[in-house]
Amino acid sequence: MILVTGATGRIGGRVIHELTTAGAAVRALTRRPDEARLPGGAAAMLGDLRVPASVGAAFEGVDVAYLFPVPGWPLADLLTHARKAGVRRIVLLSSASLPGGPNVIERQHRANEDAVRASGLPWTFVRPTAFMANDLSWAPAIRAEDTVRNAFPDASLAPVDEHDVAAVVAAALLDDDRVGHTYELSGPEPLTTVERVAILGEALGRPLRFTKLSPLEFQTALVADHPPVIADAMIGVLAAATDATAPILPGVHQATGGPPGTYAEWADRHADHFR
Ligand SMILES: NC(=O)c1ccc[n+]([C@@H]2O[C@H](COP(=O)([O-])OP(=O)(O)OC[C@H]3O[C@@H](n4cnc5c(N)ncnc54)[C@H](OP(=O)(O)O)[C@@H]3O)[C@@H](O)[C@H]2O)c1
Repeated sequence: MILVTGATGRIGGRVIHELTTAGAAVRALTRRPDEARLPGGAAAMLGDLRVPASVGAAFEGVDVAYLFPVPGWPLADLLTHARKAGVRRIVLLSSASLPGGPNVIERQHRANEDAVRASGLPWTFVRPTAFMANDLSWAPAIRAEDTVRNAFPDASLAPVDEHDVAAVVAAALLDDDRVGHTYELSGPEPLTTVERVAILGEALGRPLRFTKLSPLEFQTALVADHPPVIADAMIGVLAAATDATAPILPGVHQATGGPPGTYAEWADRHADHFR
């Protein structure tokens, strides 16, 4: 039995799809099991990752657990429950190193990895760079006025498709031989913000505008959706990624044997979100 947390999210749902397609038995953790629409007949189970005791029953009978990080979760306590329940190994969603040196986001992910190492449970770490899905935050402004507003037109990222993140997680969950591996994932090409806007415009069949914001205007927009400390970290990442070229990371190919998906493919798949 494989336990998938973050099961109702973009990555978790795709992980369940990959696992059930491969014939694995899957249990899906969610705070809202009655509302969960899960692929492939996965069984939903109630649990809150911020309340370890609520997850204890979900760990029972599980061989491998995929842990999706939730801010402020008591990970060491969760891992104690996992060990007691007999979980044999852990696959942890983490993060690649970010431009501009360790910030609060990267430090939190490294602390998660440290907690998993300290648990003594065998582990696999999946470290994606920025998700292509982050650009879904552009959808309301594109739908309303064909415009993307951002302070960093030349910031270079090599964003990764969430389907590739899920494929690597699923490969790690299905194969004991992945123990001790750290997979660092990016997409196949470095792209600046304005290059991604242009590719999205091609997918939509209409040109999109880019409006440059000041860092303060951008920070104000970000704190509508993120805690200020995270907004500041995101700005630091994009500032450091400007006038640099994002590195291409090998993890998708290492874990799946195939190439990572392109931004153009992702944009085609998500075009309806922007229409
Ligand atoms: N964005 C990036 O560029 C990037 C890069 C590297 C790593 N990451 C990591 O990726 C994750 C974000 O992925 P995403 O945007 O794909 O997420 P998402 O689709 O928004 O999914 C959120 C999931 O988290 C679950 N969840 C939230 N709080 C929970 C809690 N207290 N207990 C149990 N489940 C909880 C939700 O489940 P229910 O609501 O059903 O309970 C839902 O399944 C973050 O952990 C982040 O650190 C992101």
